[in-house]
Amino acid sequence: MVKNADFANKLLGWYDQHGRADLPWRQHITPYRVWISEIMLQQTQVNTVLPYFKRFEERFPDIYTLAHAPLDGVLHLWTGLGYYARARNLHKTANIVCTEFAGKLPEDPEQLQQLPGIGRSTAGAICAIAHDQPRAILDGNVKRVLSRHYAIEGWPGQSTIQKQLWQISEAITPESRCADYTQAIMDLGATLCTRSKPNCTACPVQPSCQSYSNDAVNQYPTRKPKKILPTRKTFFLVMADDRGHILLQKRPPVGIWGGLWSFPECENQSEIQEVCAQLDVTPLDTLDTSNQKNQPTTNDYQYGDEQRHTFSHYHLDYTPIYLSVTLKSQIAGQQMTWVAADCPGKLGLPRPVEKMLSDMCLNNLFDSINKNANTAN
Ligand code: ADE
Repeated sequence: MVKNADFANKLLGWYDQHGRADLPWRQHITPYRVWISEIMLQQTQVNTVLPYFKRFEERFPDIYTLAHAPLDGVLHLWTGLGYYARARNLHKTANIVCTEFAGKLPEDPEQLQQLPGIGRSTAGAICAIAHDQPRAILDGNVKRVLSRHYAIEGWPGQSTIQKQLWQISEAITPESRCADYTQAIMDLGATLCTRSKPNCTACPVQPSCQSYSNDAVNQYPTRKPKKILPTRKTFFLVMADDRGHILLQKRPPVGIWGGLWSFPECENQSEIQEVCAQLDVTPLDTLDTSNQKNQPTTNDYQYGDEQRHTFSHYHLDYTPIYLSVTLKSQIAGQQMTWVAADCPGKLGLPRPVEKMLSDMCLNNLFDSINKNANTAN
């Protein structure tokens, strides 16, 4: 193994010339901006984060503004970024920091780790980048760089391997220029030591890289053992009133898409009537006139194509069912709302819901359903 200082020095020399110094959170560094960026960058690439970070800091320029904002507004700005627990935790942490720490994020990594959404690596990154403290990090990019450089066998998600990688990360983190070093190793992982097609010829630490010298860079890090994800099926009930406004329901605060606004769902088509009754709406669409009871049969509904949304632990296969409905009573309350598909307002929406609403606008879908419903009546 090269001497610890050697690794950091080579990386710092490279960073001075090739680092991504223009990233917005690297200018005017404040603990608040570093914290927001680190949370957004968890499991998400820089290019995706850039527009979200810009909108977020325009709307919530400081921790008090964030803490006092409604959670819905925070989730709204997170729409499409995924892993919504991050947004809920940001909001919770902002409130804790404002009430218990006078609005100042703690500078001690142990204290930071007590706050919702901040794990060991994120705490290390905040302390290193915002305060230039010599703290180690171990995010996905760093795991890849270290497992290649030191030819560490075994999947980095496994606790023994993770422990080994933390030890290495701590040993090579320098005492000085730790803010730059931390960003340098992140940049190395993101731009040269990439998952596929790494650019080893341009790498500043290639001479000491053990997997390079064994001509085995692509064998590291060891891949995660393949697991087949289970599939869950659901129907999204896309209900439009006579104005073409769509009914959205607020999901419970915990669990998948917690606190976001989505379509009412059912697992079985035979439950559609029941769901409508619970929501106090009457479906109008395309009644089959040959049907004696004058109740819609499952064949009467207009179905969209089944689509897949994959979470980290399962696939969700969803089929839209489009219904024109009339309201029996005015639904009021925080858990339901009617939105115009082209302007759903400042709500947090899961990606598939956001996409389906914008597709509906493009296709003028409910114009045609409403026409059918009007002629059927
Ligand atoms: N990934 C995680 N943190 C990052 C940062 N500060 N800059 C670039 N990529 C990152």
